[in-house]
Amino acid sequence: MSRPRLGVLISGRGSNLLAILEAIDRRELRTEVALVISNRPQAPGLCHARAYHVPFHVIDRASYPSRADRHCAIRQALDAAGVELVICAGWDEVLLPSLVAAYAGRILNVHPSLLPAFAGGLHAQADALAYGVKVSGCTVHFMTDQVDGGPIVVQRAVPVLEDDTPETLAARILAEEHQALAEAIRLYALGSLCLDGRRVRILAERQVASVGSQSTH
Ligand code: GRF
Repeated sequence: MSRPRLGVLISGRGSNLLAILEAIDRRELRTEVALVISNRPQAPGLCHARAYHVPFHVIDRASYPSRADRHCAIRQALDAAGVELVICAGWDEVLLPSLVAAYAGRILNVHPSLLPAFAGGLHAQADALAYGVKVSGCTVHFMTDQVDGGPIVVQRAVPVLEDDTPETLAARILAEEHQALAEAIRLYALGSLCLDGRRVRILAERQVASVGSQSTH
């Protein structure tokens, strides 16, 4: 098992970041958050980085108006912190292909729908409700150049209830996001994730030992 250093990208509330930090604290995840990056100086989630004494950088549009420069700064910060696995946890920007390529197979994103349904937007929970689906959920996937289109690592489903609002559905999904993200990070650290085309195969422990060199890291 490796102990991958995590770089967590946030844009807002940061409840997924907090869930990761708490899982590490409970020793359910044997990793460490090496760096938190926010693209918004006022992101409430930065308080979790402060509370857990995790280094953080604000790399925002005001300081780096050009997206290319901004994403170059993000990459430099991740590299400098020795980050192995990048977690997009409530991150609201599409990453530049050069950044995705630099961390290919090492960027996880959490999306609040059962992909490929309701991909691409910032209102997936409201879209699911408006569409009338009876089941929704969340997806953790590897990030690629296709927005919300990378290989799926973990999905968790929730029911859509008769009296749901976008907010109640989002809250039910968010609780599952916290679980799914921790599970994906745990599987990555175990070396259990093996890319097979666009399928992510989850290897049993004995398989990890024998085909470790084929895993995604
Ligand atoms: C989550 O629902 C995430 O899936 C979506 O934005 C929300 C962020 O939540 N992309 P938080 O900032 O982690 O609390």
